Amino acid sequence: MRLAKSQSRWTSVRGNCRYASSTQARDTYSRFHSTPHPLSPRPVAATWFLSTSSAQYRNTNTSNLHGMQDKLQSLAFRERLAAAYPWTKAPLIVGAPMRVMSGPELAVAVSRAGGFGFIGPGETPEVTAADLETAKGLVEASGIPQSGSASTLPIGVGFQLWNGNLAIAASAVRRYRPAAVWLFAPRNGQPDVDRWTTRLREAAPETKIWLQVGTLQEALDAVRSASPPDVLVVQGAEAGGHGRASDGIGFITLLPEIADATQGSGIPLTAAGGVADGRGVAAALGVGAAGVAMGTRFLASQEARIKKGYQDEVVRATDGGVNTLRTQLYNHLRGTFGWPDQFSPRTIINRSWVEHQAGTPMEELKKRHDEAVGKGDAAWGPEGRTATYAGAVIGLTRRARNEAVEIVRRLSGLSH
Ligand SMILES: Cc1cc2nc3c(=O)[nH]c(=O)nc-3n(C[C@H](O)[C@H](O)[C@H](O)COP(=O)(O)O)c2cc1C
Repeated sequence: MRLAKSQSRWTSVRGNCRYASSTQARDTYSRFHSTPHPLSPRPVAATWFLSTSSAQYRNTNTSNLHGMQDKLQSLAFRERLAAAYPWTKAPLIVGAPMRVMSGPELAVAVSRAGGFGFIGPGETPEVTAADLETAKGLVEASGIPQSGSASTLPIGVGFQLWNGNLAIAASAVRRYRPAAVWLFAPRNGQPDVDRWTTRLREAAPETKIWLQVGTLQEALDAVRSASPPDVLVVQGAEAGGHGRASDGIGFITLLPEIADATQGSGIPLTAAGGVADGRGVAAALGVGAAGVAMGTRFLASQEARIKKGYQDEVVRATDGGVNTLRTQLYNHLRGTFGWPDQFSPRTIINRSWVEHQAGTPMEELKKRHDEAVGKGDAAWGPEGRTATYAGAVIGLTRRARNEAVEIVRRLSGLSH
């Protein structure tokens, strides 16, 4: 069975690999459960929803096998991740790869504090190897215990598929053996992901493959593929940076749906998008995540590779539903073209957006943008004009300056 390949990559847990498709999932489910599968197309009485949901919260109905099985599965997944990444503490907090801004200092600081730090893609593909070299030195100096297969670096590295260079990426991964790679943004969906997965696994068999998805379909394509990932990152619509352009939803809704549809695939889910503190972490674990990734929150950390004006704006801004949105405008002002249509970045709005809405022509916006770039830190802020990619969670980073590593320490104290 194809999924067994992914399953066998995890040495610490003998999970069941029962099914890969939602149809198979429903069939298998009905053999073990007296209640309808949540994906059942048949309508059920309203009281069924009331009884199952209240029982889950009161936790008194022992016939609620579905809830219990979910819980056991997500606990098994948490243990599996803990075994694969022994320097981490529960619950698993992940420093998401952010292009340029998650450099080696941030990634190693997160891993040193008991989380799992990822380096983001660099300005050019060649930068990744240089970042990994720096990270290797920082890891050696910091004494972080190596991961299970002692030869891997206790950090991860992210790759952006649509404009990434697979040969250069594979060479860096072969040389530095990060504990995981995080793949995102294929131009042509799963076939592109499969190509990267296969090549990177050949380059470094111990390195786990994490894949970031933003829809149920992307998740199903991944678990049904010939090269399923080791971990799925379920990115909700609130996430900063690039995500689904128009069909994203919050992970509170998306993650449990993906968990139901991929149950039995043996692939743990990590939540991303809109989490900046312990309340969000608890919510993510509550809907079945085995770990929680944060990006925007870490933009406010000392170790982020970010300009002061940008960081100040991330910390200052609030009310993310009003003051952030997804648009290609800033990509185009920066001269970045070619992102696949299905993705666009969430950014904090400023003068460029306001004037774009008021009808100012693109050439004029570009001229004003380029002038603003020369003004240093004043290029950001409400009167600024440059890209300030960040998530809807900005209002929760306000008190967070310099606390990113501290919060990982505190969250690590929460129990499984
Ligand atoms: C500035 C910025 C840059 C990002 N760059 C990348 C990237 O290069 N690759 C990637 O997979 N995700 C990228 N992301 C998305 C993160 O991986 C993650 O999904 C997101 O930050 C989680 O949501 P949050 O920002 O609300 O914590 C970026 C996010 C931000 C804020």
